Parts: sequence; C-alpha cells; structure tokens
Amino acid sequence: MIESYTPEVFIGEEEIALRVQALANAINQDFFGQEVVMVCVLKGSFIFFTDLIRKVNIPVRTEFISVSSYGDDNFSSGELKMELDVTGAIEGENVIIVEDIVDTGLTIHELTKHFIAKNPNELKLASLLYKPNKLKHSINIDYLGFEIEDKFVIGYGLDYAGRYRELPYLGVLNAGH
Ligand code: PRP
Repeated sequence: MIESYTPEVFIGEEEIALRVQALANAINQDFFGQEVVMVCVLKGSFIFFTDLIRKVNIPVRTEFISVSSYGDDNFSSGELKMELDVTGAIEGENVIIVEDIVDTGLTIHELTKHFIAKNPNELKLASLLYKPNKLKHSINIDYLGFEIEDKFVIGYGLDYAGRYRELPYLGVLNAGH
C-alpha cells in the first residue's frame, strides 16, 4: 500500500499565483512589442513554466531542455550531462531560461554558457526559487519568485524521489518522510 501524508504548506497557491503574475508583468514590460523564446528546464520547472507562459501576453515560442548532474547530492563533479537540447533556433532571439530553483547555481551556470554559445539577442533567467546559502556560482536572476532559506522544498513541480511534483503549492516534508 502506498503511504499517504500531507506535506506542510510552505508557500501557498495564491501567493505563488501572485508572484507568477508579477514576473509575467515584468517580462511583458521588458519585451513589449517583441517575441521571446521561453525555455523550460525539465523536469522541475514544468508547472512554473506552464503557469508563467500563460500569463505572458507577448508572442512566445516554447523550448524544452533537460540536463542532469554527475555525482551525488554531497559532491558535484561540476559537470552536467545534456539529456535533451532545444530544437528551435536561438541565434538572435530573446531567450528566457525558466528554472524552478537555483541551488548551487551549477545548472544555470552551465546552461548560460550553453545558450551564450548560440548567440541569442538577449539571455535572461527566471527562477521560482533561489537559495542564497547554497550558491557556489555567480548568478543573476532577472525574474525571481522567492528567495528562501535552505530547506528541502517539494510540490509545484519540485520532487522528492520523483514524487510530490503534482502538489499545487510549495511544501516541506515533516521529519521522518
Ligand atoms: C534541480 C532544479 C535545477 C537544479 C538546481 O534539478 O530543477 O535544475 O536542480 O540545482 P543547482 O543550482 O545546484 O544546479 P534536479 O537535478 O533536481 O532535476 P529535476 O528538475 O528533473 O527534478
């Protein structure tokens, strides 16, 4: 039988929706009259991404990318493996990378290099969450949802062992789970 328990709410649905709208407003303003290519970094950002693109009211082209890091949770080799790359053109485009969380910053550090090499017109970063305590790379987040303390957050796309991504809010697991 599958265990069933309800994680504690960390950031609720309404608060998330307000921030997503505010980030979309900023994107709409920054790129008024232009098109943007919004890149969903799988898997964690898929819910944030789909909510955000539906609040953006300028033309959007969607792209998807997937990377995984080598090494375990306590040690990163500093390398990323590209599992899935974008398929459309990036050169000359206004690109916004959409992440669920910037933790050590390794993923976005490497993805930034990856996209810069493709010569975009502009390259921006949107991230729902940011943990300043864990940061090891110099990162500028153009559209940030929430700066949070170093706790393990699940829901709204973020997982624990592949589960909880479907929760409509950001939660934390109580001790023992
Ligand atoms: C998470 C998250 C970011 C990355 C951030 O992905 O989605 O891509 O970690 O960590 P960093 O700043 O230390 O690089 P994860 O590897 O958990 O994969 P997932 O998105 O498929 O759940």
